[in-house]
Amino acid sequence: MEKILVLDFGGQYNQLIARRVREQQVYAEIKPYDRITTAQIEKEGYKGIIFTGGPSSVYDPASPHFDNGILELGIPILGICYGAQLIAYMTGGTVSSANNSSEYGKTILKVGGHTLFGDVAEESVCWMSHTDFISKAPQGFEVTAVTDKCPCAAMCSDEKKLYAVQFHPEVAHTAYGKQILRNFLFKICGCKGDWNAADYATGIINQYREKYDGKKVLLALSGGVDSSVAALLLHRAIGQNLICVFVDHGLLRKDEGDFVEETFKEKFGVNLIRVNAAERFLQKLAGVTEPEKKRKIIGEEFIRVFEEQAKKIGHVHALAQGTIYPDVIESGKGASAVIKSHHNVGGLPDVISFDEIIEPLRDFFKDEVRSVGTMLGLPAGLVWRQPFPGPGLAVRIIGEITKEKIEILQNADAIFREEIDKSAMEHKPDQYFAVLTDCRSVGVMGDARTYGYTAALRAVSTDDFMTAEWTRIPYDVLERASGRITNEVAGISRVVYDISSKPPATVEWE
Ligand code: XMP
Repeated sequence: MEKILVLDFGGQYNQLIARRVREQQVYAEIKPYDRITTAQIEKEGYKGIIFTGGPSSVYDPASPHFDNGILELGIPILGICYGAQLIAYMTGGTVSSANNSSEYGKTILKVGGHTLFGDVAEESVCWMSHTDFISKAPQGFEVTAVTDKCPCAAMCSDEKKLYAVQFHPEVAHTAYGKQILRNFLFKICGCKGDWNAADYATGIINQYREKYDGKKVLLALSGGVDSSVAALLLHRAIGQNLICVFVDHGLLRKDEGDFVEETFKEKFGVNLIRVNAAERFLQKLAGVTEPEKKRKIIGEEFIRVFEEQAKKIGHVHALAQGTIYPDVIESGKGASAVIKSHHNVGGLPDVISFDEIIEPLRDFFKDEVRSVGTMLGLPAGLVWRQPFPGPGLAVRIIGEITKEKIEILQNADAIFREEIDKSAMEHKPDQYFAVLTDCRSVGVMGDARTYGYTAALRAVSTDDFMTAEWTRIPYDVLERASGRITNEVAGISRVVYDISSKPPATVEWE
C-alpha cells in the first residue's frame, strides 16, 4: 500500500495535513519526529514525506531536528512552514526572524512555473503563520514562490527531491492548497491514489478474522459512532466471539440505553450484555468536581466493570475499544500537548487483566469512521449520530454529579436536541447538547421566586472536532428551546447559549 509519512514537528495543523492527503486517496500516517528513525522510514517504503509546521525556531538548540540522512533517502520531501525552514537549515540555507513583520493570515502568493504549482494561478491567496522565514535559499535550490514580505515563500531542488513551502497548503484558506498537495502526491511522489477507508477496513476485517480466530474479544459499546463501528467491524470478523458490554453508567442521554440495546441486539444480532451500573458510578463520583478526576474515575470504573464481566464470561483474550486517530494524538501520544485525557486512551489503569487491547479504528479520522460504518450497513441515523463523550454527561455537569442533576440535564438536553432536529436549519450543527452549569440564579415563576440552575446550550459546526465554530442557531430555535426548558424542566431557571469556538474553548465544557 502506498503511503505518505507526515513527520510531526509539533504544529497545530498536523492532523489536517494527513486528512488532506487521505482525501486524495493516498494513505498518510503521522509520526512524531522523535519516534521514528531514518532507517525505519526507509524500511517502511514511504512514497513521500511531509515535514509539518511547528512552533519552534530552527536555530534554537531545543527545537525539533532530524537526522540529515533522511535527505539522502531519495524520497520526495515537502516541508511546510517550520518544516520548510528545517529543510533550508539542513541544506545550508539561511533562516531569519522577521521580528516585527511576521506574516499571519491570508497573503497573496506569486508562483513561478514549477511542477509543484502546476494548475495554480500566478497570483492567489495562501495562508501564512510565521515569524521566521527563509532569507537565503540553499545552494542548488530554486525559489519558486514569493510574497510581498517573504523572498522565498517556496523553494525546491528537483535533483534532491526537496520541496519547501512557507505557507500552509493544508488550510482551506489557501486557495490552491489542494492542488499543490495533489501536485506533490501525484506528479512528484508518483502516487496512484487508490486508497480508501472502506477497503482499508475490509483489510482489517480479514486480518482480524485470522488473527483472532477462536478468541473471545470484549468490546466497550457506548452506542456512539466510534464504538458502534468498531463493534460491527469486529462482529464481521469474529461473529459471536465478539461480546459487547454496554455499560449503562447512568450518564447517558435520555432513553439512550434502551435504544442502544435494541439496535445492536435485534437489528444486528450482536452478542450484547447490558450492565446497569449507575449506582456504582454515582458512588465513585460523589463529591468529585475536578474534570480530569471525573474522567479518570469513569475510565477506571469502566475497565473494572469490563474485568468483572470478563471473569463471568471466562477467558477473554482482548479488550476492544473505539479509539480513533484524533483521540490518540490529542492525548499526548504525538508531539502536541495533552488537552484532555479521553477516557478510552488516558484513563486505562496500570493493571489490566486482558492479554491485548484492540483498537480497530485507531488509524481513522472521524469522517472515515462514518464511511466505514456505511460500508458495514450501519443505519444512517447511527452513522451520522453526533458524537458523545465516553464519560457521558459527567463532563457536561459542572461541579458535583448527583442523580437529580443528571435527570435535569437529560431533560434539558433532550428538549434542545429535539428543537434542533425539527428546526428548518439548512446546516444542522455537527454536535449540539446542553450543559448543566454549577451556577444557580434567581428567577420568577408565577409570583414565586425560583433559584434554579443555569443550563448552557452548546452547538458547534466542524469537520473534525479538532477545531470548531459555534453554530449560528436562528434566534427562534433558541427561543423555543429556552422557553421549553425553563417551563418543562424543574430545577432550571435560566438558559444561556455558548458562543465560544475551539480553540480557545473545547467542545465539551470539561
Ligand atoms: P473536546 O471537548 O475535546 O471534544 O473539544 C472534541 C470531541 O470529542 C468528544 N469527546 C470525547 N469523546 N471520549 C470520547 O470518546 C472522551 O472522553 C471525550 N471527550 C470529548 C466531544 O464530545 C467532541 O465531539
